[in-house]
Amino acid sequence: MHSSQRDFHRVIAIDGPAASGKSSVARELARRLGFVYVNSGAIYRAITWYILEKGIHTEDLARLAQALASAAVTSCLRDGESRILIDNVDPADRLRDDRVNESVARVSRLPVVREIVAQKLHDRACSDDLVVEGRDIGSVVFPETPYKFYVDASPEVRLQRRAAQGERDEIALRDQADSSRPVSPLVIAKDAHVIDTSYLTVEKVVQEILARLKETGLRI
Ligand code: CDP
Repeated sequence: MHSSQRDFHRVIAIDGPAASGKSSVARELARRLGFVYVNSGAIYRAITWYILEKGIHTEDLARLAQALASAAVTSCLRDGESRILIDNVDPADRLRDDRVNESVARVSRLPVVREIVAQKLHDRACSDDLVVEGRDIGSVVFPETPYKFYVDASPEVRLQRRAAQGERDEIALRDQADSSRPVSPLVIAKDAHVIDTSYLTVEKVVQEILARLKETGLRI
């Protein structure tokens, strides 16, 4: 279903490449505004975890689609954040495992997976005001929202940030896969406000976004 056919609450889209600072900014922004924070990457990661857990090869599209068709993907709210459960399991502490980092871009390029995630995001937007971070939130999932931001940082800074989180994550490979896939690639939505966070604190980025939201007419 196209998003314009549904009655959504307000949605602030924060898109950008890996380790660009999306999560810290989106979470803090949601807290300030009293909106629900949604990490769409976490949903792609949860689905990837589930597929790996079931022993399904990410190229085995038939089995993958079959497994997802019978999986119960639900979301719940905890402390102002949307959490994802699959078959009643919350895989939150497994989402940044090496094997998930390695496979998530392959899983998230599949239309069947993107459809599930978009549906979950649309459902959530029917009941709450949201700050949603991801890759295609402003361009594809909520193209009608007037509140779109694209946060970026230099490749060196992004690598440093990910290393500081203690993760082995090939972000350049993931960025390349996310930007070049045919379905919902990472792009800067034409009406997005772009912020380079390389030398900005989270607080500065949040302030810039809040100022821009005010200008755009969001009643805060
Ligand atoms: O936290 P980080 O920026 O490393 O990535 P993430 O937001 O957790 O997203 C993990 C992966 O999910 C991305 O590399 C994309 O392959 C996929 N993703 C996507 O395709 N579309 C989104 N809206 C969000 C994530």
